[in-house]
Amino acid sequence: MITEEDTLVDVSRPARRVLLLLTVTTYRSQAFVDAAARLGIEVVAATDMPRELAEFWHQPLGVDFGDPDGAARIIADLAATKPLDAILAVDDSGSLVAARASAALGLRHNGVEVAEAARDKFIMRTLLRAAGVPSPPFERHFSSEDPHAIAAATAYPCVVKPLRLSGSRGVIRANNREECVAAIARLTALLHNLEPTPEPKPFLIEQFIPGFEVALEGLLDDGELEVLALFDKPDPLDGPFFEETLYITPSRLPSEVQRAIRDCAAAAAAALGLRQGPMHAELRVNEQGPWIVELAGRSIGGLCSKTLRFGSAASLEELILRQACGLEIPTAAPDQGAGGVMMIPIPEGGIFKCATGVEEAQAVPGIEEVTITAKAQYPIVPLPEGDSYLGFIFAHGATPAEVEQALREAHRRLRFTIQPSIALQLA
Ligand SMILES: Nc1ncnc2c1ncn2[C@@H]1O[C@H](COP(=O)(O)OP(=O)(O)O)[C@@H](O)[C@H]1O
Ligand SMILES: [Mg+2]
Repeated sequence: MITEEDTLVDVSRPARRVLLLLTVTTYRSQAFVDAAARLGIEVVAATDMPRELAEFWHQPLGVDFGDPDGAARIIADLAATKPLDAILAVDDSGSLVAARASAALGLRHNGVEVAEAARDKFIMRTLLRAAGVPSPPFERHFSSEDPHAIAAATAYPCVVKPLRLSGSRGVIRANNREECVAAIARLTALLHNLEPTPEPKPFLIEQFIPGFEVALEGLLDDGELEVLALFDKPDPLDGPFFEETLYITPSRLPSEVQRAIRDCAAAAAAALGLRQGPMHAELRVNEQGPWIVELAGRSIGGLCSKTLRFGSAASLEELILRQACGLEIPTAAPDQGAGGVMMIPIPEGGIFKCATGVEEAQAVPGIEEVTITAKAQYPIVPLPEGDSYLGFIFAHGATPAEVEQALREAHRRLRFTIQPSIALQLA
């Protein structure tokens, strides 16, 4: 439990300094900056962009996440004049840079190979399989192969997915050969659009694992997993696309199932060599027990961490920063009550015009905040090609059921005006 005194700055020791690795589009910065301010930790931010561009935009520091060695050198230069206590990537994309730079500076961090394994679903699946951690059977394929031959050799239902995207982008369920060929065409077109190079693009075909889905938020300290929160995802995720909508904590699953989920996530972290810092795992649970869908060496994405509070209102980011800086991590007893978020899915593609009913949604008892993140007059793209939501709804309540009901009611009160774009109509 964190007490008021814990959050006060201890003037007897030098202030800690943390480098945060950010992307221009991340939602995660503010929560870390706020947490650092509460803890008296100085934050230096580095953004994923070439140095010249960063200077042009008056960004304090630009590093290219696509060039982890170059980025690590820039960070080492910075650390020569501004010693760093920790380097934290707020999203997956910066994790390799954080690992490289931490290794160069001798800071406690997961190894470079671990960052790779947690980012690349093929490496991850291979390590999980080798360690005997329940995870979907899989095959890796390339866009250069004949999709009909792949489809003929696949068992159904299956899931076709990219190796390195996130937010369910490009993840498609197929129930038969025809759907599999179509899913491969759709995914490889997306991958070629994102990276228009002639190299064949890799992707995975996995067995579809039915079941109830959960997300586990944890903190690893020297390989010891502390579960900070377990979220239920009460909307069925059966495809063909996998929009995440509701996340509700604490989980309503029986305690022995929750224990099995924890053990499975801990085994998965060990299999990947993930030993330090935040971890976010997604699992499916069915009559055979828990299965790892994926595991990342970062905290929960988007604005979802707002649903979590520990002790006297400490945030998830505070716990992460404390651990990264070697400060005492108080027992992360979660707050009383329940919390939840709805990531508002994009119902159709087009130009986003406006959202109405926000005040009505906000008036639903238990609703704390309705944030529309889509920008008016900008194109919005649904899954599987899209990579964003319309916004987020946050709720707090006495029980998970109450929170779920509030989120659903608030969502029902929202109306979105989306103008189908001409290009989309012609497509
Ligand atoms: N093998 C699978 N079986 C069942 N559902 C899956 C499988 N793989 C992915 N999914 C569904 O798709 C979602 C996104 O897949 P995931 O591998 O987590 O990719 P991402 O990194 O984009 O989140 C999962 O949360 C899950 O609902
Ligand atoms: Mg996922």
